[in-house]
Amino acid sequence: MASRASTERTTSPRRAAEILRAGGLVAFPTETVFGLGVDATDAAAVNRLFAAKGRPGDNPLIVHLPDIDSWPQAAASLTPDGEALLRAFAPGPLTVVLPKAAAISPLVTAGLETVGVRVPAHPIAVAILRLAGVPVAAPSANRSGRPSGTTWRSVLEDLDGRIDAVVSHDTDAIGLESTVVDCAAAPATVLRSGAITLEQIQSVLPAARAAGAAPVHESPAQPKSPGLAHPHYQPQATVRLVNGSDELPADPPGRCAYCGLRPATDPPSFAVHRVHESVEQYAAAFYEFLREADRCGVAVVYVQRAPASGLGAALRDRQRRAAGLVE
Ligand code: TXA
Ligand code: MG
Repeated sequence: MASRASTERTTSPRRAAEILRAGGLVAFPTETVFGLGVDATDAAAVNRLFAAKGRPGDNPLIVHLPDIDSWPQAAASLTPDGEALLRAFAPGPLTVVLPKAAAISPLVTAGLETVGVRVPAHPIAVAILRLAGVPVAAPSANRSGRPSGTTWRSVLEDLDGRIDAVVSHDTDAIGLESTVVDCAAAPATVLRSGAITLEQIQSVLPAARAAGAAPVHESPAQPKSPGLAHPHYQPQATVRLVNGSDELPADPPGRCAYCGLRPATDPPSFAVHRVHESVEQYAAAFYEFLREADRCGVAVVYVQRAPASGLGAALRDRQRRAAGLVE
């Protein structure tokens, strides 16, 4: 499809599927974050997607399917570990890495012999995938390196005029990307934490382990999940992590109840993100908080570390990456 001067807004899964089938780029909601979809078998379209995001070509994309039984559209085989995890947690915020099917463009997998496969739970995403009838590669719908988009407005903030359409549903999302588990080799390895916790993975696959985030300067020469080597989730503002709320500076006056932000007419020098009533709320608000800080022209963001367990472990990972503490 020719690139558009501006991005179409639609609420129709049928329209979104039509644009995808024609080789277009469509952002749509999922239960984690918004995805930027493209036909994973169309190399020219995949190239446009990397260009639109400014994404390095060595960072592979996740292929989305409407149901588990569609796995042959993306994978050459369904390994026993992959099948066990999909049966336990799909549809849902899980990606399993499997041997790649020939039909998937090698651009999608950055030349790897494996492919990330995800069956999302969001009804709009499922409807689009079903109507599209093709495997849909979909990274998070943001400019590369920026916090992921959790609202269609944030998607347009980054990508207006660079993509063909956005499905403009307001949605209650988890706010953190899916758990990525390498199931192509034994033992299964959690490459990226998410709402499906390591404990939940181990309840199905007791031998599964976490890859562990390499601290800056200690990353392996050949990272298992290539994308994680690039900067992620980083706002313009400097992000500082603190432990207890007693280490946070006093909120600037006129702040919003949770986030410490004031209107853009009077930009504060800093903003404070403190643990919310639940870790689910805290995670759901995180990326939008970072974006709001940038909209307000805030220079420094103080972020209170999330609890270490459950969804908090995934949020901690994103907090550390936002602060540039892991590569
Ligand atoms: O929740 C999500 O996963 C969202 C929604 C849109 O589905 N998508 C998402 O995609 O977060 P993206 O492109 O932002 O992140 C994909 C992650 C990267 O860390 C990438 O390295 C990893 O998945 N990945 C993809 N294919 C892989 C493969 N074959 N082997 C190892 N890691 C892979
Ligand atoms: Mg991303």
